[in-house]
Amino acid sequence: MTKTSSEETTPAIFIIFGGTGDLCRRKIIPALYNLYLENRLCQNFAIIGTGRSELTDVNYRNTLLEGVNEFSRRGKANKEDWSKFASNISYQIADIKDAASYQAFGSKIDALKTDWKLNPSITYYCAVAPDLFCTIAENISKSKLENDPDTTRIIVEKPFGRDLESAKELNKRLLTIFNEKQIYRIDHYLGKEVVQNIMAFRFANAIMEPLWNRNHIEHVQISVTEQIGIEDRGSYFESAGILRDMIQNHLLQLLCTIAMEPPINFDADVVRDRKVEVLHAMRKIVPGKIDMIAARGQYGPGWVEGKKVPGYREEKNVDPNSNTETYAALKFYVDNWRWQGVPFYLRTGKRLFKSASLITIQFREIPHNMFNKEEGNVPKQNRLVISIQPDMGIRFQLESKTPGLEMSLNTVDMVFDYAGKSKSDSPEAYETLLLDIISGDQTLFMRADQVESAWELIMPVLDYWAKSGTANFPNYPADSWGPENAEALIAKDGFHWFNLPEKK
Ligand code: BG6
Repeated sequence: MTKTSSEETTPAIFIIFGGTGDLCRRKIIPALYNLYLENRLCQNFAIIGTGRSELTDVNYRNTLLEGVNEFSRRGKANKEDWSKFASNISYQIADIKDAASYQAFGSKIDALKTDWKLNPSITYYCAVAPDLFCTIAENISKSKLENDPDTTRIIVEKPFGRDLESAKELNKRLLTIFNEKQIYRIDHYLGKEVVQNIMAFRFANAIMEPLWNRNHIEHVQISVTEQIGIEDRGSYFESAGILRDMIQNHLLQLLCTIAMEPPINFDADVVRDRKVEVLHAMRKIVPGKIDMIAARGQYGPGWVEGKKVPGYREEKNVDPNSNTETYAALKFYVDNWRWQGVPFYLRTGKRLFKSASLITIQFREIPHNMFNKEEGNVPKQNRLVISIQPDMGIRFQLESKTPGLEMSLNTVDMVFDYAGKSKSDSPEAYETLLLDIISGDQTLFMRADQVESAWELIMPVLDYWAKSGTANFPNYPADSWGPENAEALIAKDGFHWFNLPEKK
């Protein structure tokens, strides 16, 4: 997990399939550019973007620059830095489906190797629709592009499959060409700064572990709410839904990070073993009881910040009678010694009142209240609130005496808020992840068995929701906190969903 600097990194060639796409412009190139500015890329690096359009290198670089100017956390690029960085970028027109197109990459790789007189790592980045992942892998193999197991890597974006069966098939096909150590399945939530901090917070503090179990924790909430709708991704979202889009990957990975046993070291497989154990320990969802542990919703039209916004069914490329869910809430249990009986509530949705990714850990009530109840002194349960975004921080909500002559209790926050660090100071998830790929560190990437276990867990809900079609949608307006059935799901256990506490 030690991050490398430019002197230590090996020369690297990135071949980006989908080089003219949105992901490349918004995330991949801004991340690589920031790594370059941080001196984290080796002097010898090359980025080869591919696409179907006819583009010169200069045109291609210009479109990427626009992306950097618009999306980089550092804002507009400095001219000189950009032009040095961009001199390492080239464009190669290619038809991903045609193996003959791949010869051009081979020639470029050979030319760079001869020029550098070095043996670079080669990273094939599949920033394309998922149905093309295997085509790319198979064409790399057919055209005998470099595939040295020690230096060649392939990056696969999510969604990784659309159910257990397709994920297994995808793994099987990729694994006939690359070995597991070469495959980097991205879940960008794992690269987020605060998510990485959970490991430090849990395992570098002696006071946390003794509390981190069923004896002290009453329940856990993992909530990723988004204000945005589905934007221009109607056709993708229609066939995905939020259970596939967010819960199968991001939210379950957050749950694993919270619930995992302490790994003995930071080796990628040791950490991933501990996470996959959580998925294996999760209580199987029983088909007949899904309505008791899962709630779904779809947003209707409404007003957001003074603007009228369409309902999901009115979005572009969406069926006007669609039953696709844009909101999901689920309750899980992890059946092991540490977590027996502790509910984990997960919720996520689009077009909600606020965007916030939060993990809240609610501790149990104190066993005996020695304070004067009549004077309103009923200590509130302690909470640990891990705020991933947009505010980054970890706050402990504790009870304290209000200053004054009376013994009067009050909730106070002990806050670690990345003081002095603005969002633009912290590396974006993609920076962390790309640097890890360059260094060959798979800790923050999904292993084949992790992805499959996550699919296996949610399959009964996916099947049930697909079969029980009529879902009375839309059932929540834009700018709300989601559907009533999600409130009921948690309320029947005596809890309510937590939102980010107001700053004091
Ligand atoms: C993506 C989902 O994986 O994560 C999107 O496909 C979602 O639907 C996005 O909006 C959320 O990521 P972030 O980093 O903005 O919280």
